Amino acid sequence: MNTVSPEPAASGASPRVVVLAGGISHERDVSLRSGRRVAEALRSAGMEVTVHDVDADLIPALTDTHPDVVWPVLHGATGEDGSVRDVVELLGLRYVGTGPRGSRVAWSKPIAKTVVSRAGLSTPDFVTLPQSLFRELGAGRVLEAVVARLGLPLVVKPSRGGSALGVTLVRDAAALPRAMVDAFAYGDTALVERAVTGRELAVSVIEETDGPRALPAVEIVTDGPYDYDARYNPGRTEYFAPARLTEPETAAVMSAAVEAHRALGLRHLSRTDLILDEAGVPQFLEVNVAPGMTETSLFPQAAVAGGLDLPSLYRGLVTRALA
Ligand SMILES: Nc1ncnc2c1ncn2[C@@H]1O[C@H](COP(=O)(O)OP(=O)(O)O)[C@@H](O)[C@H]1O
Ligand SMILES: [Mg+2]
Repeated sequence: MNTVSPEPAASGASPRVVVLAGGISHERDVSLRSGRRVAEALRSAGMEVTVHDVDADLIPALTDTHPDVVWPVLHGATGEDGSVRDVVELLGLRYVGTGPRGSRVAWSKPIAKTVVSRAGLSTPDFVTLPQSLFRELGAGRVLEAVVARLGLPLVVKPSRGGSALGVTLVRDAAALPRAMVDAFAYGDTALVERAVTGRELAVSVIEETDGPRALPAVEIVTDGPYDYDARYNPGRTEYFAPARLTEPETAAVMSAAVEAHRALGLRHLSRTDLILDEAGVPQFLEVNVAPGMTETSLFPQAAVAGGLDLPSLYRGLVTRALA
């Protein structure tokens, strides 16, 4: 085994793992909660775990302690766009999850949509509008053209983001300018796509020795939009794990998630968000390389629904990172 710090892992002693959690992003709090959960599970699987934030102490801590594996449980920004993973690679360390290149592609919703649609998946029609272009061409004219082409309702979201921050469902053209402003608050480019009606599903994928496989789909039912509040405050959202699907629907959504994982070059774990439309077609919305791991998160719910025990699953992912 060609590990950076081979002694503990190679001798069969428990690997030393550093879980990265926190970071500077709008999803910092969620990441801290996710990181704590992952660390607890790994500890109960017998691993030696430290949780570290992404700050000026991180590089010295990693170079001094040389952990066997790093697990970036960072949502949003540098945790998911590949840059933290680039740094971990620069330090010659092994890590759980997708590499920098796959992360970069997945983190950009329009790029990920383009890649998966080339691989044959369906994804809602869309346009991307950088704020500068929007200004240069005149907001009114651009939005008129968007509505003429894509129709209504539309969903406006930051082209890179998470936790439904800056996402608006627009039913009426008059509400579009406001939705654009809300998306631009989270980044320079907005993605405007056709709204899909159907059942909202999250399909997690894990890699085992024989390649990626989907865990049972989790169905999300909310009393309104599946926004930040509905995600992290218990009570507003009901989850069905496994989702209430027919056998062919189950097969379709599972294979869509595995296909997205493969087409995007993802590694170890991912979670694809999709809507199973009224015609029974899975419509890809986005994929997450660092899915939420909090107590109410979809990835752990899927694992439990699949009969997996979280400490063993997470230990398995660390072992894959070491292999
Ligand atoms: N095209 C769409 N049609 C209908 N609902 C959508 C669409 N895109 C996003 N949504 C809703 O907005 C939520 C957030 O969108 P998503 O693309 O998954 O971004 P995020 O990275 O913020 O999770 C989804 O969970 C879904 O409820
Ligand atoms: Mg999502």
